[in-house]
Amino acid sequence: MKSRLTAALIASFLAWSSAGADVEQGRAKSLACQACHGANGQGTAPDIPNLAGQKAGYLQSQLAAFRSGDRRHELMNAIAAQLSDTDIANLAAFWNSLPADAATHGGADPAAEFRRSRLEFPAEFPAGFVVYFESRGKDGKVASKSYVTRAAVAAARAGKPLPDGTAIVVEDYANGVVASYAAMATHTGWGEGVPELLENGDWSYALFDAAKQRREFNHARCLACHKPQEKTSYVFGYAEIAKAK
Ligand code: HEC
Ligand code: HEC
Repeated sequence: MKSRLTAALIASFLAWSSAGADVEQGRAKSLACQACHGANGQGTAPDIPNLAGQKAGYLQSQLAAFRSGDRRHELMNAIAAQLSDTDIANLAAFWNSLPADAATHGGADPAAEFRRSRLEFPAEFPAGFVVYFESRGKDGKVASKSYVTRAAVAAARAGKPLPDGTAIVVEDYANGVVASYAAMATHTGWGEGVPELLENGDWSYALFDAAKQRREFNHARCLACHKPQEKTSYVFGYAEIAKAK
């Protein structure tokens, strides 16, 4: 069993071992990070910290803590779980190497591509879909209803990956009427260009308002949080889908 002292010694070793880190390797691995932390290391949303110019030892210890689960955050735990010690040292060295006030970055933003969703609201919905899950609020009224395309049910029952063309739509209700939708669907080619740390096969995700218009959001958040469900086609409710009638 690892003692607290051993853990502390490992952490301090990680901190000074960054001398051998490779900034260019870190840059190559950083594309996924850029989706949230920005191409210039300035966080793209109020809850996403800046990384540019941060001390390498600190970046390393935080990434190691996200990986071990000592620091809890659903998105960062899912990302860090995929990193080796070498990746962590290289990424820390790369983000440390950027100027802290890097407001300008030559305008290049290679992550913009997969910050966007590919998914439009399925035109045929609800035709061809079956309801596989329903939740109710304390008032007994429907709070959400989850639908999946019919062919996915047979695949889930057979323990197989959900087939190309599968779509899942979750209706969220407020006071008995649909207030918004969350959806995910898989389509050949949609995963192209998405870095491995965020890649969800060919699945793409989207939020829609009651009028089925797509809402602005960072698609990388959906990818990061669903990524650990890789064994069940990135779907949390795979077991419920298998039970659908
Ligand atoms: C899907 C969005 C997303 C992606 C992708 C992402 N991060 Fe994060 N990261 C966050 C959020 C949100 C936080 C804030 C966590 C918290 O509140 O504890 C964070 C926090 C961190 C922190 C802690 C910073 C601090 O000041 O304590 C580090 C270090 C970090 N991320 C590094 C990375 C690296 C390296 C990558 C790429 C390998 C990456 N992140 C990819 C969203 C993301
Ligand atoms: C912080 C983690 C997290 C993030 C970020 C996230 N999801 Fe999920 N998602 C879940 C969990 C957990 C479930 C299953 C439980 C539930 O339905 O509440 C789920 C379920 C779903 C489902 C139903 C199918 C399934 O996997 O069971 C859809 C559709 C969905 N999410 C879409 C989205 C979209 C669109 C986004 C991005 C806008 C997104 N999710 C971002 C955690 C997340």
